[in-house]
Amino acid sequence: MRIAVFASGRGSNLLAIHDAILADELQGVSLDLLVCDRLEAPVVEEVKKRYIPDFIFRPQDFPDKKAFETVIAEKLKTAAIDLVVLAGYMRLVGSVLLEKWEGRMINLHPSLLPLFPGKDAIGQAWRTGVKETGVTVHFVDAGMDTGNIFLQRKVSVDPDDTEESLAEKIHNVEHQLLPEAIQKFQQEL
Ligand code: GRF
Repeated sequence: MRIAVFASGRGSNLLAIHDAILADELQGVSLDLLVCDRLEAPVVEEVKKRYIPDFIFRPQDFPDKKAFETVIAEKLKTAAIDLVVLAGYMRLVGSVLLEKWEGRMINLHPSLLPLFPGKDAIGQAWRTGVKETGVTVHFVDAGMDTGNIFLQRKVSVDPDDTEESLAEKIHNVEHQLLPEAIQKFQQEL
């Protein structure tokens, strides 16, 4: 199963996926494309070091979302991608990609959806004072973090946690859960 990862920032989840593939923990899967909408995103350097093919673009170079999503759709087709994984892609996916990729596009979100959708989910959970939050992998639809849930894992908020330690725990769980979700998708194909 050939996957593309869409990311806009750090790329720690892309690296976790790639590490799992290299360690043979994620089997029957290859990471064949990074799609990134920020030239200066740290993930860009990381994929270059690992010789992962990429498509890096500047949204402002295109007239609208439809135009850049049409190019992305062509890149996905050329790379024969089977599954698209959004891992920190800071943009709502539009109709061009949704129509073609419905049911084959998943997103990683750092909360137990439907709680705390949108930006700063960890901060939202922290400020609300919940005793438990978590990580969700869900199918992508037109809404913000609203698609059907594929896999979830809980993370407890302990009395000695700070917002930073909670974020670290959540990111560690993400690095486990996302490769697991990809493997599950591959097994169910
Ligand atoms: C993750 O916390 C993910 O849940 C959210 O964006 C973050 C991406 O982190 N959607 P990274 O770029 O993979 O390090």
